Amino acid sequence: MQAKTPSESRTVMTDLVLPSETNPLNNLFGGELLARMDRAASISARRHSRRVTVTASVNHVAFNRAIPLGSVVTVEASVSRAFNSSMEIYIDVWIEDRENGHKSKANEAIYTFVAVDDTGKPVTVPPISPESKLEKERFEAALRRKQLSLVLAGKMKPNEATELKALFTE
Ligand SMILES: CC(C)(COP(=O)(O)OP(=O)(O)OC[C@H]1O[C@@H](n2cnc3c(N)ncnc32)[C@H](O)[C@@H]1OP(=O)(O)O)[C@@H](O)C(=O)NCCC(=O)NCCS
Repeated sequence: MQAKTPSESRTVMTDLVLPSETNPLNNLFGGELLARMDRAASISARRHSRRVTVTASVNHVAFNRAIPLGSVVTVEASVSRAFNSSMEIYIDVWIEDRENGHKSKANEAIYTFVAVDDTGKPVTVPPISPESKLEKERFEAALRRKQLSLVLAGKMKPNEATELKALFTE
């Protein structure tokens, strides 16, 4: 299978924060942001694999900054690494200053999607060929994040997570 670049799966979704999507502090409700990120990640995984894709796990979410009512929020997702049937999707969330239009990073997340056939059976996806420095860094770290996710899900024994163990023994 021919490798693809992360930019081929890049998905950008921009939307407002409306009153029905906020918590009692008038900031974007966390579950709403998770859903927006899941949608962008799903499109990204589909663009990379050209298959039906399902969310296998949410590996990391950092709600670093609250997003106030009325904000213009941009969710940007792309495949950072593809394995056999699974893909790591890296998501950056930006908010836009109303007056000067400057975009600043609010949150980030990492999801794992799996490409499946019509019966839900995992199928192989193309590999990823990272281009930029950031894409290469995310690609390099993706294997240990996959191993950590599998260990936490009880799908891999800790002593088999060689890449993850190397973090603590180097
Ligand atoms: C995700 C799913 C397809 C995996 O099926 P499975 O029978 O466990 O298949 P496998 O064990 O072969 O795993 C398939 C791939 O997913 C990866 N994977 C499975 N669970 C994972 C996890 N928790 N974290 C990271 N990767 C995971 C495996 O490592 C494997 O990757 P690879 O093929 O790239 O090596 C299956 O569990 C499923 O359909 N889940 C429901 C998905 C869904 O409905 N999501 C919406 C939320 S409700």
